Amino acid sequence: MGAGIRILAAALLALAAVRGATAQLRQGYYSASCPNVEAIVQAAVALKVQQTPVAVGATVRLFFHDCFVQGCDASVIIVSSGNNTAEKDHVSNLSLAGDGFDTVIKAKAAVDTQCPSPNLVSCADILTMATRDVIGLADGPAYPVELGRLDGLVSTASNVDGNLPPPSFNLDQLTAMFAANNLSQADMIALSAAHTVGFAHCGTFTGRIQTAAVDPTMDPGYASQLLAACPAGVDPNVALEIDPVTPHAFDNQYFINLQKGMGLLTSDQVLYADLRSRPTVDAWAANSSDFEAAFVAAMTNLGRVGVKTDPALGNIRRDCAVLNS
Ligand code: HEM
Ligand SMILES: *[C@@H]1O[C@H](CO)[C@@H](O)[C@H](O)[C@H]1NC(C)=O
Ligand SMILES: *[C@@H]1O[C@H](CO)[C@@H](O)[C@H](O)[C@H]1NC(C)=O
Ligand SMILES: *[C@@H]1O[C@H](CO)[C@@H](O)[C@H](O)[C@H]1NC(C)=O
Ligand SMILES: *[C@@H]1O[C@H](CO)[C@@H](O)[C@H](O)[C@H]1NC(C)=O
Repeated sequence: MGAGIRILAAALLALAAVRGATAQLRQGYYSASCPNVEAIVQAAVALKVQQTPVAVGATVRLFFHDCFVQGCDASVIIVSSGNNTAEKDHVSNLSLAGDGFDTVIKAKAAVDTQCPSPNLVSCADILTMATRDVIGLADGPAYPVELGRLDGLVSTASNVDGNLPPPSFNLDQLTAMFAANNLSQADMIALSAAHTVGFAHCGTFTGRIQTAAVDPTMDPGYASQLLAACPAGVDPNVALEIDPVTPHAFDNQYFINLQKGMGLLTSDQVLYADLRSRPTVDAWAANSSDFEAAFVAAMTNLGRVGVKTDPALGNIRRDCAVLNS
């Protein structure tokens, strides 16, 4: 075969590999099987958030953890069984709040009763839609979701090891872990702004404040407020709002906080402290529509991570919390 043909063949193979990863993921995937699925999920999620506002942060974080541990396949929702410790029970105690799981379970129940028949929509897609919907309910950007994920067949605590970022990570560590998931540094910075909603337990940031020398990248006034709420020996169940200024709004206040030394986690504040990422923080602090556009693009990329569309690798779970038998 001539060189030109070999190059063409290689290019086609590369294209096939890229397409293979997301071949069947698309907007409107259920338009024939359950045309109202997005409205059904939206209504169930709105009711859940009305009853339990903390479901906003809980659901967004659940989606992130799902996608970073063997792909967006709802494996994070599986409960442990006699002989298997599932992802959600990893020893690191991920402290995933129960209301995120409950949001998916409630939306799944609504989908199963209101679609033409049960079990047409994957739990992974329901989590993707629910995440988009809680963000909208918190006045964040509206965006179309790609659908067509299958639910994974495996959920094992050991698969969590090394795949989720600890709050102590620096910029290079964060960038590398997101790159391993096909996400750029800009995606990582945009997605970190999910910390504009939700809670963090004292133990995730007391290393910055309960020391003789408070972390110099933190505003001293903010540090003393945090120390008052999280003194040495505090009950480990105490959690504080991550964005102390607009804790319930999905906005760009996160970046404005970073400019003021009011990022709660080391991994938050480092985005401003490190001069390589500071220009992006400054740009999105100044322009919320630019932030929203970057966030929507990054969420779409996050939703593509490790997606399964091959029926040998996944299915549609009858109960989101239990593998089909
Ligand atoms: C960049 C690296 C990240 C690190 C180191 C990190 C770390 C953390 C930590 C330690 C908490 C507090 C958990 C607790 O104490 O209960 C937290 C909460 C949260 N994270 Fe992240 N996170 C990161 C990225 C993300 C991303 C990409 C998203 C989503 C797109 C996200 C969404 C959330 C949300 C919404 C909460 C609040 C959860 C709630 O209120 O229940 N995080 N994160
Ligand atoms: C769990 O253990 C039971 C009893 O030993 C066995 O029947 C079952 O197949 C096991 N399940 C899995 C998922 O390994
Ligand atoms: C994990 O968190 C739960 C709920 O906060 C708590 O009851 C449990 O003791 C924690 N487990 C470990 C190993 O820290
Ligand atoms: C934000 O940036 C866009 C271009 O991306 C520009 O059109 C808009 O005027 C900017 N808004 C503000 C408030 O600077
Ligand atoms: C990253 O993208 C490549 C090429 O599209 C794909 O083969 C790979 O599976 C993706 N990785 C993840 C974690 O999604």
